[in-house]
Amino acid sequence: ASVLILNGPNLNLLGTRQPEVYGKTTLADVEALCASEAARLGLDMQFAQSNHEGMMIDLIHQARGQHDGIVLNAGAYTHTSIALMDAISSVELPVVEVHLSNIHARETYRHTSYIAPVALGQICGFGAHGYVLALQALQNRLVS
Ligand code: DQA
Repeated sequence: ASVLILNGPNLNLLGTRQPEVYGKTTLADVEALCASEAARLGLDMQFAQSNHEGMMIDLIHQARGQHDGIVLNAGAYTHTSIALMDAISSVELPVVEVHLSNIHARETYRHTSYIAPVALGQICGFGAHGYVLALQALQNRLVS
């Protein structure tokens, strides 16, 4: 099986961006962590990041036929993007929503997720380890 791990806006700055909130782990560290967990689980993976909503939508469309599931950290688009929600509904691939921070313990505008209603589930608050948990959850769903 194959998974797309898609990261949204500002996540390219991970490690230097508000380290008190998001930690010192860089996106390259997250990618390395995902690569080793995917290999352990026997999953192929594509790791991507974009600051552009439309690019993220294109990547979700392309995932259809190419991948069996998606791990998605949509960044702030989580809280705003009906278009991303519709893209997920359209491709009918299982999606696990991930956030490094616990969005429910933060500002109220981060409590709403347009991804959550179309995701298998949401993992947040565990930092980069959340991606490992998401891959395990997706693998579990794909084999069962
Ligand atoms: C985030 C949480 C979002 O609210 C924020 O806009 C981000 C990162 C997280 O991983 O904790 O960009 O998705």
